[in-house]
Amino acid sequence: MGVSDKDPREEVLQAWYMDDSDEDQRLPHHKNPKEFVSLDKLAELGVLSWRLDADNYETDEELKKIREDRGYSYMDFCEVCPEKLPNYEEKIKNFFEEHLHTDEEIRYAVAGSGYFDVRDSNEKWIRIWVKKGGMIVLPAGCYHRFTLDTDNYIKAMRLFVGDPIWTPYNRPHDHLPARKEYIQGFLQKEGGDHPTINAAA
Ligand code: LAC
Ligand code: NI
Repeated sequence: MGVSDKDPREEVLQAWYMDDSDEDQRLPHHKNPKEFVSLDKLAELGVLSWRLDADNYETDEELKKIREDRGYSYMDFCEVCPEKLPNYEEKIKNFFEEHLHTDEEIRYAVAGSGYFDVRDSNEKWIRIWVKKGGMIVLPAGCYHRFTLDTDNYIKAMRLFVGDPIWTPYNRPHDHLPARKEYIQGFLQKEGGDHPTINAAA
């Protein structure tokens, strides 16, 4: 991709540093002035992302290939709205508690949108807006949380390698091997000289 081409993922995936206000979690929480975060910067934190054809996920060859390449054998859907999600209020509250998992969290917005917040290497919150067609992978051991936005609806495809384990470990859970591996793999090589993984792109 040339430097002047806009990454098509940016139409469905945007990230920015959050402000510190206690206002409604469903608001964007931009800093003033806004401070956007590139998808390359997210990749340095281990957060992978794709833009896919959400209207045709059943026949999408690109999705099929990602699932094969990454071993995502399991798939289901999680629709976040009061009518479809049992214990809606409690789940909404729990989703927004900072937590990690011992496996990847893979979410593909096939309808609606929502915010996945992740910590950067300096513990600052980055808000990732995932809209219809956006798919992200949060690595195992990465502290994060989720909230709907003010549109109040997402239908997310959930993928997993093998039998799913959705257990959230609320912060702090720093002794878990997945956390240690995440720190070693992604946070410790941050700062100073940044890896130039896309220098040749
Ligand atoms: C989860 C998201 C909400 O764990 O972080 O399902
Ligand atoms: Ni989670």
